[in-house]
Amino acid sequence: MSIKGVIFDLDGVIVSTDEFHYQGWQRLADQENIFFDRAMNDRLRGVSRMESLDIILEKAKKNYSLDEKMRLAETKNDIYRDLLKKISPNDILPGVVSLLKELKEKNIKVAIGSSSRNSPTILAQIGLGAYFDATADGNDIKKSKPDPEVFLLAASRLGLKPAACLVVEDAQAGVQAGLAGGMKVLAVGAAANDPDATFSAPDMSHVSVEQLLNC
Ligand code: BG6
Ligand code: MG
Repeated sequence: MSIKGVIFDLDGVIVSTDEFHYQGWQRLADQENIFFDRAMNDRLRGVSRMESLDIILEKAKKNYSLDEKMRLAETKNDIYRDLLKKISPNDILPGVVSLLKELKEKNIKVAIGSSSRNSPTILAQIGLGAYFDATADGNDIKKSKPDPEVFLLAASRLGLKPAACLVVEDAQAGVQAGLAGGMKVLAVGAAANDPDATFSAPDMSHVSVEQLLNC
């Protein structure tokens, strides 16, 4: 089936928020006296906020109640949202805008499929909200990547069958989610070496629309 829609992950694909997520989690871990570093941060890519916290708490010396965990997640999100205020259209990753424009010209539908509950804020701040025909994000779903829920929802909001969609992802969990949803997957950035992806590129400036549509 030919590709009629492209579903983009947001963090690490459209815009690089990694450093802000890292700083938020690092400050929280320091506050709680829990070991955390950049290598551990890599495991959080594509993973929901609460699941990310559970990974960080693997190294904690005490058990946290659900209430305490909710407060910790809120603290990290407050730090993260404060850092997000700095994000602007200058932070859109290479090749993204021209690819989106070309897809529009070819009448290919585009959507966001992100685990982030901050997705609407980020899209507004980088000025790309109007580009997308549909969005599905962490506010809409129960199961996070590698479950395909967010991508299946994005495809259905585009009015397309999963097999007519291509997912663009920078996280291993996201590559698996796209494949589990019956979609083709372009892996970029941190996932560029993922052997399971349909095809890979360092970033979107290395990808042509023809490659996307004929994969
Ligand atoms: C994903 C990021 O897009 O969103 C993860 O890759 C992050 O690192 C997840 O944990 C949830 O983000 P948020 O903004 O809802 O805390
Ligand atoms: Mg990502």
